Amino acid sequence: MIEQQFIPQAYSNTVSQGTVSWESPSNIALIKYWGKKKDQIPENPSISFTLNACKTTTVLSYSKKEETSGFDFEVYLDGEHKPDFQPKIKTFFERVFVYLPFLKDYSFKIETSNTFPHSSGIASSASGMSALALCLMSLENQFAPEMTSEFFNKKASFLSRLGSGSACRSIEGDLIVWGENKTVKGSSDLFGVKYPYAVHENFKSYQDTILLVDKGEKQVSSTVGHNLMHGHPFAVQRFAQAHDNLAKLKPILESGDLDAFIALIESEALTLHAMMMTSMPYFILMKPNTLEVINKIWAFRKETGLNVGFTLDAGANVHVLYPKAEAEAILDFIKKELVVHCQNGQFICDEIGFGAKALTK
Ligand code: PMV
Repeated sequence: MIEQQFIPQAYSNTVSQGTVSWESPSNIALIKYWGKKKDQIPENPSISFTLNACKTTTVLSYSKKEETSGFDFEVYLDGEHKPDFQPKIKTFFERVFVYLPFLKDYSFKIETSNTFPHSSGIASSASGMSALALCLMSLENQFAPEMTSEFFNKKASFLSRLGSGSACRSIEGDLIVWGENKTVKGSSDLFGVKYPYAVHENFKSYQDTILLVDKGEKQVSSTVGHNLMHGHPFAVQRFAQAHDNLAKLKPILESGDLDAFIALIESEALTLHAMMMTSMPYFILMKPNTLEVINKIWAFRKETGLNVGFTLDAGANVHVLYPKAEAEAILDFIKKELVVHCQNGQFICDEIGFGAKALTK
């Protein structure tokens, strides 16, 4: 499938005003996307668990304008007008205008809220951008009711990617691959696809407890971080490694080998941070408490043999990953040993989810 297929033909319907609403989840990458080409094309493939509890709800109200001029929209977070969100959404509208040519014909009100605390260090871009893209797709669906649900999801993922790369992995669940690669048939740089192969019971209902180690503003935005992979001394090897790791993950997912799974995802997390530490300029996004948590997870795993592992985003927070069957003992360990390393003792219990939901269509 190529970009042109997302450019609509003349619409069969028109709509004067209305409201659509979606809730869309966050996701956590197991194999990390870090480095991109023009138009949010990833330098390497990634795979993520879709989350369940961490999500954004967006209500999009629209009314047809008298005359077509520029983009006309207002953004609200938790009922509060947010003019500072305007530039990011405007850039998104500019990027997707060719695929949604009705955007200049309407006045929009975008009302959004997150289930996770704002400035918790949890990026809202994946859930937020995917929720907005889905709302816009619901509107387009009214102009083009003949659209299949498969095309709807594909285009929603395609548009989300243009808002924030990883957002394209939030439309569906429970394991999503983004970025063309040989291991996963049907994979694409343009949108996320459901992981199409066998997945062992061990990985169903996988748990993700997110430890909010540091809730401060990120030192480096992901845009800046991705760009630092241009000319990075280890870029070529890293991109090749992500392809290899995806190939290695396939038999692990099939057999349910938790030791191999943990080794692979922890190595991916530390590699992501190693890329930041070895870019120019260089960054350390982990905090002392990030390392305390990692060392305690390793010691606990050695002592108990339980299958607890971690992954990291481009920040200091730790995602503690473990199978549901071991949840009781591991959650007890988290509460007794790890929560002291969280800012204000804050953590979020999440688990694998199955994608976005329409609240109204
Ligand atoms: O979607 P972005 O541009 O915010 O980049 C996300 C990058 C990581 O979260 C670090 C990795 C990933 O694959 O989600």
